Amino acid sequence: MFHMKVIKAKTHKEAGYLAADEFEKVMEKKADCVIGLATGSTPLPFYDELIQREKNRALSFSSVRTVNLDEYVGLEAEDPQSYRYYMQKNLFDHISIKRENILIPNGLEKDKETLCRKYENQIEVWGGIDIQLLGIGHNGHIGFNEPDDFFAVSTHEVKLTEKTRKANQRFFKSPNDVPKSAITVGIGTIMSAKKIVMMAVGGDKAEIIKKAFCGPVTPKIPASILQFHPNVTLICDEAAYMGFY
Ligand code: PGA
Repeated sequence: MFHMKVIKAKTHKEAGYLAADEFEKVMEKKADCVIGLATGSTPLPFYDELIQREKNRALSFSSVRTVNLDEYVGLEAEDPQSYRYYMQKNLFDHISIKRENILIPNGLEKDKETLCRKYENQIEVWGGIDIQLLGIGHNGHIGFNEPDDFFAVSTHEVKLTEKTRKANQRFFKSPNDVPKSAITVGIGTIMSAKKIVMMAVGGDKAEIIKKAFCGPVTPKIPASILQFHPNVTLICDEAAYMGFY
């Protein structure tokens, strides 16, 4: 964690504001930058802030390309639980991004191997990810890279752990509706991003923040690999920041 920048925000909303500052800096320098995006409850104030900033003409998405971290297998884009739907509702429908500049896995694709290969290829064709937003799961997952015996390098299909399915069950009608697998970018894909911004909010994230950034680097805690990335900014609210004490 020693070359990592840690910022303490007072509130979740402020964490979103500060994360938007980091993205604005990159977007200012490179109008057609490639930004990596995440889903979950953590980034919501960040997306609100980006929408607001484009409305206020502080930034523009008209040439920006976006790459999402992951998608559930078996959910169609219109399914309210799909990450595509989340992105449309919480960001894409409200900004000037072009449809062809959005990259998010198709949860219904049958040929997953080709999908994953094409996903990596598209990121490469776009010149790599300039800035990547991350949340962190209670088990240390980033994207849907779950604790494992090794770090998965590139985009792949992953079986979701019971812990993750349980954490996400709140969004589904019944626990059985939570998909059993997902497509996720790999740890290598994430580590190749030129800059990484992680947001962590809430006291329930304090413990995993401590394990990921103050403990050993291990695939059992996938986020711990970020200790080896040269340009990480971690934005915590006060409760998550308590993990450093
Ligand atoms: P959350 O999810 O933002 O809903 O806490 C984070 C994650 O699982 O990566």
